[in-house]
Amino acid sequence: MSTESEVYLNGQFLPLADARISVLDRGFLFADGVYEVIPAYGGKLFRLQQHIDRLNNSLNAIRMQAVMTDQEWANVLTKLTQSHTQSDQSVYVQVTRGSGNNRDHQLPVDYTPTIFAMCQTLPSSSLDFIAKGIKAITLDDIRWDWCHIKSIALLGNILLKQQASDQHCTEAILLRDGFATEGSASNLFIVKNKQLITPPKSHHLLPGITRDLVLELSLKEGIQCAEAEISEKQLFDADEIWLTSSTKEIMPVIELNRQAVGSGQPGPLWQQMSACYSDFKNQLRHPS
Ligand SMILES: Cc1ncc(COP(=O)(O)O)c(C=O)c1O
Repeated sequence: MSTESEVYLNGQFLPLADARISVLDRGFLFADGVYEVIPAYGGKLFRLQQHIDRLNNSLNAIRMQAVMTDQEWANVLTKLTQSHTQSDQSVYVQVTRGSGNNRDHQLPVDYTPTIFAMCQTLPSSSLDFIAKGIKAITLDDIRWDWCHIKSIALLGNILLKQQASDQHCTEAILLRDGFATEGSASNLFIVKNKQLITPPKSHHLLPGITRDLVLELSLKEGIQCAEAEISEKQLFDADEIWLTSSTKEIMPVIELNRQAVGSGQPGPLWQQMSACYSDFKNQLRHPS
């Protein structure tokens, strides 16, 4: 994933190499901030309003005010993506509580947020790789209890994903008290007897934008779906397992803890949903 040079920082568009923040920024010192990742197809931002709403929810949850209006976000992010219409992009947005005069745990009464956004190319080769099916492992969820916030404090997620990677797997599926919640960077779906199941929204998982879209599309497709807890046993008995995220879309898991999932190939419901998701994306690219 290559980083494109023009970025947005605190009201200015400037080359990445010229973007500077203070070492006293609370994002740097405490991971005191939140973020979003928004795909852009053919220069058009995908599900922008949903991402802005989630960003504002995350800000509110960490006691920060919205930093821009929806229209201002749309203007900034559209301008960033305009010069990259040739390839698909992911737009990274980060807002921190800014910097004070020293390092202090206490939340400042007055602060100027640090607002940063940049584009990265989304390589289509990564989706081609995913479409063949990925391997995953299960791990205990070692993260904190507020996983609904899209916090920049990602050390738990990173170390879990690295454990998966050490075992030549793409993702870790996380377990809490015997139930599967989500992946280290994705939401979880299983298919059992043609029914789609995903854990209900809670403090133990991120309310994924892709998750919501998959639920929306499954309704349109007439696929039976339920938001219900998934026990570890149900996970291992599943006919299909999918992991969803904005940049990886819908990943079919074909191996879990070295055992084949279902037939050991991306399943029929995944084929159906994946085609439906591609159609939905293409409508954004070429509205009819
Ligand atoms: C922990 C976690 N859960 C779920 C998701 C999927 O969210 P979305 O579909 O909004 O990208 C992500 C995305 O990065 C994530 O980090």
